[in-house]
Amino acid sequence: MSVNDSAEPNRRDFLYIATGAVGAVGAAAVAWPFIDQMNPDAATLALASIDVDVSQVAEGQSITAKWRGKPIFIRQRTAQEVEEARAVDLSELKDPLAQNANIPGDAPATDENRTAEGKEAWLIMVGVCTHLGCIPLGQAGEFDGYFCPCHGSSYDTAGRIRTGPAPTNMAIPPYTFSDDTTITIG
Ligand code: FES
Repeated sequence: MSVNDSAEPNRRDFLYIATGAVGAVGAAAVAWPFIDQMNPDAATLALASIDVDVSQVAEGQSITAKWRGKPIFIRQRTAQEVEEARAVDLSELKDPLAQNANIPGDAPATDENRTAEGKEAWLIMVGVCTHLGCIPLGQAGEFDGYFCPCHGSSYDTAGRIRTGPAPTNMAIPPYTFSDDTTITIG
């Protein structure tokens, strides 16, 4: 039996097969955005909302959850942090709107409007700087809130933009407390 009669593909066959495979991957990559938009897969749907257990988050502590690919800062603020946020005159705010998906879009950016009724110590917020999307540091910056080191935006203890290039307060996602220690986001 000659080499060419062998069942094993020779080098030339192998190159052809490899090229064909690359072509198939290329086609799949082009098709993906359309499939993705029209027909979210099960994993995407499952992430539409998440439950976060906050029973271990004591006053003054924070955790970061992940929701729809974004970091969600969850902080049980100290009484002092709440007091600082409430003491701010709204006329000092760069962005006067609450940016809270749970209340009307024109609601003012009071500390109460940045939190949920009866759970005012808890700040639940999309942890993405509204300038160009960096993830700010917690308990940092000149207002004791959040500081984005990318271009120097400072947010206060309610996540409201105070100085720097970011134009708006960090967003509050849709959420509810489904019980005393569980937050459903989304
Ligand atoms: S991305 Fe945060 S200040 Fe520019």
